[in-house]
Amino acid sequence: MPNPFRASFGAVPPFLAGRDLVLDDFEAALDHGPGAEGRATLVMGARGTGKTVLLTEMEAIARDHDWQVVSLHTSAGSLLEEARTQAVEILRDLDPEATRFRATGGSVGSIASLHGEVVDQYGAPALSPASTLSRLTTLLGADTGLLFTLDEVQSVDLEHLAAFAQIYQDLVRAEQNVAFVGAGVGAGVRTLLDSPKTTFLRRARRVEIGMVDLGSAAAAIQATVAATEKSIDAAAAVRAAEISCGYPYLIQYVGAQTWAHAGDADEILLEDAEGAREGAIAQMATNVIEPALRSLAARKREYLEAMLLDDGPSAVADIATRLGVAAGYQSVYRERLLDDELIRPGERGTVEFALPYLREALLAGRGRDAEAAPLASGVRARRTRGPRDRR
Ligand SMILES: Nc1ncnc2c1ncn2[C@@H]1O[C@H](COP(=O)(O)OP(=O)(O)O)[C@@H](O)[C@H]1O
Ligand SMILES: [Mg+2]
Repeated sequence: MPNPFRASFGAVPPFLAGRDLVLDDFEAALDHGPGAEGRATLVMGARGTGKTVLLTEMEAIARDHDWQVVSLHTSAGSLLEEARTQAVEILRDLDPEATRFRATGGSVGSIASLHGEVVDQYGAPALSPASTLSRLTTLLGADTGLLFTLDEVQSVDLEHLAAFAQIYQDLVRAEQNVAFVGAGVGAGVRTLLDSPKTTFLRRARRVEIGMVDLGSAAAAIQATVAATEKSIDAAAAVRAAEISCGYPYLIQYVGAQTWAHAGDADEILLEDAEGAREGAIAQMATNVIEPALRSLAARKREYLEAMLLDDGPSAVADIATRLGVAAGYQSVYRERLLDDELIRPGERGTVEFALPYLREALLAGRGRDAEAAPLASGVRARRTRGPRDRR
């Protein structure tokens, strides 16, 4: 029996955990007509939280409502040209007048010399992206609409985005039935939002996605197995959810490992889930944490390492002491790491790691460094905890 879990980036899982609200809101916005709140949405979240999957789901909902979708990718040379090309494809499907027969050459009436040529009014000489999109939305009319999606917004060329924004805003102003959903990692998107060229993004509804609650994670794992011929013991589903920490990528990875561990057995048991933890830690390190830490400034890394001395949340005052820096300096790095989504604020002046198994990955990395060379940073390798840390 094939493994039903989808542990790879961009792969839509059989059951989505914890996204009902976002998707319902999106669906409602489609029904509410041009200019409705939520017609422009920005999905923000760390790698592996399910942004691409959410975008794909939103596209599916739009298609269910008979909308057309222009799905933009920032790797494309020009956003506008990509939009135009996709719009032309849709127009050719929809517009009965898109291709017409034009007689060329010869004199009228002379059958022998009548050469036919199919003229595609959207082909060369090309209509501009603006005219093409406007033609398309006009043709779609009020009963249906056009959804633009843009993944990895944070990597988009600012000039391209500005040019696209101009056209999108014109369509909105003309009361055309359009919607926009962008997705990207929070830090990059916030930088984009600071640019004067992205006004329409600033007005977009922001949806921050992250880890889902463990109940939803367990329910998704349970439902994924229940849709096959196997079953999963309730305690096993709960344990798998705990190991996943509700982090969407890990829900799939731990689910897949748990499934594999059960082999040919009809029922998946607690021990199958238990066996998935070590692999989950290693997988997170390779696929999510190491890529995130690779380009991290040394000072930020020291900050994270200073947090390792606590078993739970770290008091920011302690971090400043450990780093031997003033409180103001500490808070600069705190802000940057919050922006990177590597830490999150805890209760009463504390911070904690925001990615599951980040602590484990840092400890493992430090173990490797320690074998190679003594600690280079200002962080003391003290493992005993002071009185403040014990709170
Ligand atoms: N709501 C969800 N519930 C369960 N698994 C999910 C959910 N969203 C995404 N996933 C899984 O998480 C992984 C990462 O999803 P993806 O959309 O590529 O994340 P991102 O684009 O944020 O990096 C994929 O394996 C996907 O199947
Ligand atoms: Mg993605």
